[in-house]
Amino acid sequence: METLLRPSLDRERLIAWYRANRARTAELFGWIDPSVYDVAPIALRHPFVFYDGHIPAFSFNTLVRNALGRPSIDRALEDLFERGIDPSVSSDPASLRTLPWPTHAEVRAFVQACDDAVLDALAHAPIDDPAIPDLVRAEAAYTILEHEPMHHETLLYIVHRLAPEHKAIPPREHRDDPVPAGEPVAIGAGIATLGVRRGALPFGWDNEYEEHAVAVPAFGIDRYDVTNGDYLAFVEAGGPVPPFWVPAGTGWQLRVLAGSIPLPRSWPVYATQQQASAFAAWSGARLMTEPEYHRAAYGTPSGVERPQPWGDAVPSAAYGNFDFRRFDPEPVGSSPRGASAWGVHDLVGNGWEWTSTPFAPFAGFVPMASYKPYSADFFDGKHFVMKGASPVTSRDLVRRSFRNWFYNDYPYMYATFRRAYD
Ligand SMILES: [Fe+2]
Repeated sequence: METLLRPSLDRERLIAWYRANRARTAELFGWIDPSVYDVAPIALRHPFVFYDGHIPAFSFNTLVRNALGRPSIDRALEDLFERGIDPSVSSDPASLRTLPWPTHAEVRAFVQACDDAVLDALAHAPIDDPAIPDLVRAEAAYTILEHEPMHHETLLYIVHRLAPEHKAIPPREHRDDPVPAGEPVAIGAGIATLGVRRGALPFGWDNEYEEHAVAVPAFGIDRYDVTNGDYLAFVEAGGPVPPFWVPAGTGWQLRVLAGSIPLPRSWPVYATQQQASAFAAWSGARLMTEPEYHRAAYGTPSGVERPQPWGDAVPSAAYGNFDFRRFDPEPVGSSPRGASAWGVHDLVGNGWEWTSTPFAPFAGFVPMASYKPYSADFFDGKHFVMKGASPVTSRDLVRRSFRNWFYNDYPYMYATFRRAYD
């Protein structure tokens, strides 16, 4: 029966998606002073030039060269721009590349050739071929189309660390509200469905399979994310300072994308998973597990599970602070239409949600043909699952089974948390 439901390939949609991704990448690069093209604002990440080349090189390598078996454009540049890095904060910066990068003009010529080849393939090539693993259900095409928006987020959290004089960020208003009062919400015992059945989505990353049910005991959870105001009491008691806070006189400012502003008390605090755990323990609680996130976000008192916290409607910025509605957080509880059936706010949007669950494969995991190391390289017990979305997460990545992950001490992510209670 399932084959009958297989959607036909909509090449126009895939081409429009690729063009929209490229346009957003160009827009983000347009915010960066050209003089810092070779600069890496985060010492353990590559300079901007790498990302300029990497995004289209990955698309070309994955779809055109590897999946379709077409000839290389420039093997040296394809290799140079092949893969990003995921350093732990204790990595040695000297281990990174120190050779000169290609010039801006060389990179741009290569980028153009990659884009031309990818667009030609999306328009004309046999990109949906059940006989070739990389092309089953057009896997390689979807891989490159979801890879680019992930890099929009990566790029922005690097731009975040760039000095204000080297960037021109479109202005956004920042609002600080009184923090809404909210007792923890009681979530009854029930079943959480994690993962997704093969064939049920047009595309999923390898770590989203297979679908399985987890019995989750009753627990309590914060209705709102922990705010900067909540966390301030912990800092004043000697707790670790969150990575987006900047000392200012006797108090604190918050580093937002464009610069620094007085600390907004009502915004969710962005913190590392270690800091989140420490805060939760200090206040007599703990972080939620990945199954508990699913219960709070997608479960309902009736036992039915929903595709999104707000129900069935397709993701849009009406339901949460994601998909570039803003670049930075906003006061917790600002998206009431996106609250879950239990009345828990901002589970999707306004910052990824840390869990206490180490990133690990679900039963039935198979590395994806078009991008084998995507998840498998990170099943090391040192990365932890994040769920939901940040302000700059594309709506294309907002689905129940999507999983993100990072080291527990990585300080640059747009990630927040809330407390769970036994
Ligand atoms: Fe990448």
